[in-house]
Amino acid sequence: MQAPSSLKKLLTLWLVGPLLALIVVSAVPGYFLAVRAANDAYDNGLLDPAIAIANYVRENEDDVQVTVPPAAIEALRIDTIDRIFFRVTGPANDMIAGNAFIPLPDLPMDTTAQSLYSTVLEGQAVRVAAISIPRRNGNVLVQVAETTLKRERLLQDILVGALTPAILVAVTAAILFWFGIRRSLLPLAHLRDEIERRSPSDLGAVSGSGAPLEVRPLVFAINQLLARLEQALEAQQRFIANAAHQLRTPLAGLRTHVELMRREAGKNGASTLIDMISGETERASHLANQLLTLARAEPGSSLPIARVPVNLRELVFQSVQAWVPRSLVRDIDLGFDLADAHTLGDPQLLRELLANLLDNALIHTPRGGRVTVRTRREQGFAFLEIEDDGPGIPESERQRVFERFYRLPGTTTEGGGLGLAIVHEIADRHQASVKLLTPPSGHGLLVRVSFSEYE
Ligand SMILES: Nc1ncnc2c1ncn2[C@@H]1O[C@H](COP(=O)(O)OP(=O)(O)OP(=O)(O)O)[C@@H](O)[C@H]1O
Ligand SMILES: [Mg+2]
Repeated sequence: MQAPSSLKKLLTLWLVGPLLALIVVSAVPGYFLAVRAANDAYDNGLLDPAIAIANYVRENEDDVQVTVPPAAIEALRIDTIDRIFFRVTGPANDMIAGNAFIPLPDLPMDTTAQSLYSTVLEGQAVRVAAISIPRRNGNVLVQVAETTLKRERLLQDILVGALTPAILVAVTAAILFWFGIRRSLLPLAHLRDEIERRSPSDLGAVSGSGAPLEVRPLVFAINQLLARLEQALEAQQRFIANAAHQLRTPLAGLRTHVELMRREAGKNGASTLIDMISGETERASHLANQLLTLARAEPGSSLPIARVPVNLRELVFQSVQAWVPRSLVRDIDLGFDLADAHTLGDPQLLRELLANLLDNALIHTPRGGRVTVRTRREQGFAFLEIEDDGPGIPESERQRVFERFYRLPGTTTEGGGLGLAIVHEIADRHQASVKLLTPPSGHGLLVRVSFSEYE
C-alpha cells in the first residue's frame, strides 16, 4: 500500500525544492562570471610590469641582456598581499634575469605575443603574464607571476555579495511558504474538528463554511453520504419499531390465551407448564416493549422529542404507585428522598428512563435489600439518583453494560440487556450524563443521571 502523502509535505517539496534548485543553478554561471571578473580586474595590472621589464631587454652583437633597475624590482615588491616573481628567458632558453623558475607558457616563439595563464609556482597558485619578443637570435620571454590571494578575496567578496541576497530570499520564501501552506490548510483542520466534535448520532450536514473552493466538493460528497446514512438508519429504526410493534399484538393475544388456559387447566393440573409458557410470554412482551422503547428513544426516531419543563420530583412521585407493589413482592425497602429538580425534557422518555433504572434496582438487588430514589438540584444540575445495596457492577464492566444486549456474566435475573442502553440513549437525547458509581456505603450501585437545571 502507498504511504499516505501529506499535502503539507507535497506543497513544501514542490515549492521550496524548485526554489532552492533555481538558486543553486543560477549561482553556477554567477560563479564563473565572478572568476572572470576577478581575473580581468588584476590581469591588466600584471601585464604592465611585464611590458616594463621587456623594455629593459637589450640586444648586443651576439647576446641578449636585460638590466632591470633596482627601483623597478622594488616596485614589484610593494604589493602587500601577493608575492610577485619575474623571469626573463633568452633565446637559448637560459634565464637571463629573474628570481624564480616560472613554468613556460605555450606561446609561438617567432612573433610578438602575450599570454595570461594560471599555473603553480613553489606550491602556490599563481597568475602569469608572459610576453614573447622576437629577436635576431631567437625569442626573449618575459614572465611576471603573482600569487592569487587578491583575486581569491575579490572572488569571495563577489560571491558573498551575490549569494547573500539570494539565500535571504530563499529563507524568507521558505518561511512564507510554510506559513502560507499552514494558513491555507487551516480550513481543512477546522472541517476535521467539526466532524470530530460530533456525537456519533449526529448525521446532520457538515457546514463546511469557510472551506476553500477546492474542498467544497468533498464537503458536498460527505454531506450526501451522511444524508444517505441517515436515511438508511431511519429505515432500520422504522423496521425495528414496526417489528416490535407488530409483535406486541400477537404477544398480548398469547398472554390472554395463556390466562384462559390457566383457568381451564385449574381442573386438569397442567399449571407448571402453563406457568412456563406464561413466563416466556411475559419475557417476549418485555423484550418487544424494550425494543420499541429503544427505537423510539434513538435520535433518528420519527417521533420528535418534547422539551417541556419537568420536575423530576413529580415525575418520580407519579410512578411510585406502580413500583411500590413490585418492591413489596420482592421484599425490598423502597425509599424516596425527593426534592424539586427542574429540567427540560420529554416526560414520556424520562419515565422510561426511570422505569428501567428502578427495574434494574428492584430485579438485580436480592430480596430484603434497600433501594432509594433521590431527586435533587445542585450547582445548575438536576439529579436523578437510584441507589441500591445489591451486588453492584464492577468498574471494569461499567462501560460495557450500556451496550445493547450486554448482561454481566453470571446474571441469573430476567432481562434482555436493553435497559441501560435505553437509559443511555434517553440521557443522550437530553444532553444528560449517566454515571454508574459505588454508593458511599461501599457496596451496591448508585446510578446518577445529571440533567442541566431549568429555572
Ligand atoms: N442495579 C444493578 N445491580 C447490579 N447489576 C446490575 C444493575 N443494573 C444492571 N445490572 C447489570 O447490568 C446488566 C445490563 O442491565 P440492563 O438493564 O441493560 O439489562 P437487563 O436488566 O439485564 O435487561 P432489561 O433491562 O432489558 O430487562 C444486567 O444484566 C445486570 O447484569
Ligand atoms: Mg434492566
